[in-house]
Amino acid sequence: MAISTVGVIGLGTMGAGIAEVISRNGYSVIAIENSTAALEHGRGTLEASTARAVKRAKLTEQERSALLDRITFTTDMPALASADLVIEAVSESLELKKAIFAEVDAITPPHAILATNTSSLSVTDIAVATGRPANVVGIHFFNPAPVLSFVEIVRTVVTSQEIVDEAVAFARTLGKEPVVIGDRAGFIANALLFGYLNHAVSMFESKYASREDIDDAMRLGCGYPMGPLMLLDLIGLDTAYEILDTMYKQGRDRLHAPSPILKQLVTAGLKGRKTGRGFYTYEAPGSPVVVDAVDTEAIELGPTREIASVGVVGSGTMASGIAEVFAKAGMDVVLVARSGDKAAQALSRIEASLDKAVSKEKMTQEERDAALERVRGTSSLRELSYADLVVEAVVEDLEVKKALFVELDRTCKPGAILATTTSSLPVIDLAVVTKRPQDVVGLHFFNPAAVMKLVEVVRTVSTSDEVVDTAIAVCRALGKHPVTCGDRAGFIVNALLFPYLNDAVRMLEANYSSANDIDLAMKKGCGYPMGPFELLDVVGLDVSYAIQRTLYLEFREPGFAPAPRLEHLVTAGYLGRKTGRGFRDYVN
Ligand code: CAA
Repeated sequence: MAISTVGVIGLGTMGAGIAEVISRNGYSVIAIENSTAALEHGRGTLEASTARAVKRAKLTEQERSALLDRITFTTDMPALASADLVIEAVSESLELKKAIFAEVDAITPPHAILATNTSSLSVTDIAVATGRPANVVGIHFFNPAPVLSFVEIVRTVVTSQEIVDEAVAFARTLGKEPVVIGDRAGFIANALLFGYLNHAVSMFESKYASREDIDDAMRLGCGYPMGPLMLLDLIGLDTAYEILDTMYKQGRDRLHAPSPILKQLVTAGLKGRKTGRGFYTYEAPGSPVVVDAVDTEAIELGPTREIASVGVVGSGTMASGIAEVFAKAGMDVVLVARSGDKAAQALSRIEASLDKAVSKEKMTQEERDAALERVRGTSSLRELSYADLVVEAVVEDLEVKKALFVELDRTCKPGAILATTTSSLPVIDLAVVTKRPQDVVGLHFFNPAAVMKLVEVVRTVSTSDEVVDTAIAVCRALGKHPVTCGDRAGFIVNALLFPYLNDAVRMLEANYSSANDIDLAMKKGCGYPMGPFELLDVVGLDVSYAIQRTLYLEFREPGFAPAPRLEHLVTAGYLGRKTGRGFRDYVN
């Protein structure tokens, strides 16, 4: 069947975007709203979005007016009598959707495909409200629909294969990458996204970290296009609440129970970007311009200590990367390894990295020479007696680190700050073995340290304000972006990242979708730089399993229990890229 006329019901954020992308690809669109005011609002959204596309040279002025001309804006449902396909995009209420589908069923020709853009409700429940459930399918777009190229095609147990094929072919004509999946709350992308978003909200609500720090951590630590709180504002807090509520009711997973503040914001009418205020305040309703963001890099600090000379303990990738970062910022660095040989190896790693920076024209030969000159390697901790700051980056073993902190406390001068780069152990456990717990802080760098801008500054219950502020000042001097958080397993990034990766493994285990389709969903539907299975294989399944286990043991959250498949792969020695096999096979 040839589709030429498409009805879109509901012109909110999603409906307007869907109508835009369909019309842009040459189809006639009948755009329906239930009131003139809503219709005019939807028209305004479309006009603004297409004007932006013209400004960005994605459309010509002529194409824009042709696009708008192909859309008939109406409040008259019977106008759908000529539609070959109808896509419903009203708010997430099952009763409302069922009523609309029953009405559309009576109006549209028998061949018409009836599709819902629901994000979480059961497509089957909606389908049975019509006399043609075999023609009902989910076509789920991602916000902003004109930009993101992923579409989930949801088949129910009664959807006919022919209709699924037509929906897939239609999505391809829009330039989208469709994936066909079964009818389960949240489908692929939302099922993996919303647990993470909800967790970020609870971090904010419990004041574990600030709004900006949570968002910056995920953008800079994981390369996400937006932080979770700003993304929630884009999605709409009412929509997010409804999706979480539906997912919770279907799976009874506490991690999907909407964080209380979401309900409060929605009740107060602060529904995110579309109303001009949600977690952030925007210039105007619908505007992407935030007017109340705090510039965390400019926050004034209290008294700080002077840091001129730095010690780094360890000789692995993190230790050499961190030493390089300090040396490049003009500080003298003593790198202490377990042996002279190991120190020499770390120094040659630093040299190689600096050479690479020169060859990529990121620094001059003179700058390289000066940086290298500033790093000294040794196997003696005694050489740290003059350091103002010591950063420990040895193996993630609590007993080894504790023994080291006892030594550092004995060796280092009074007032020297002792920092750990641990990513999963409690910083307070290291602080209490010293006589200076107020001077112990977490400085969690990301790998590769020379490249990644983010550093999590971890404050324990004992760390002094002066030490936290000094740590922040040091990160700024290094050209890094510090975020501060409390001393909980996973800090911000790992606590938000790994449960999502673990959920992806569970989804695979449940045979809901394939690793390729799940990776595609998160890359194309949410703009992530890597899919969860690509990332797991890069990080290493042993490392991922260990972090997930730590999170589980700290929070005792059943939803955080490591997925059995992850554990089995680790047991089998399939650890990801480094062993040539993980979720995928690699040619090393
Ligand atoms: N038509 C065509 N292209 C357009 C356009 C339009 N109307 N409007 C913008 N664009 C283009 C821009 O020109 C730009 O392309 P170039 O980079 O080639 O110039 C690109 O789209 C990005 O747009 P902007 O510059 O306006 O914005 P940005 O770079 O700040 O990115 C963003 C904004 C696209 C929202 C990005 O931050 C992003 O991808 N965020 C993640 C969004 C996400 O995760 N969405 C999924 C949410 S879940 C969901 O939607 C499902 C659900 O059920 C709730």
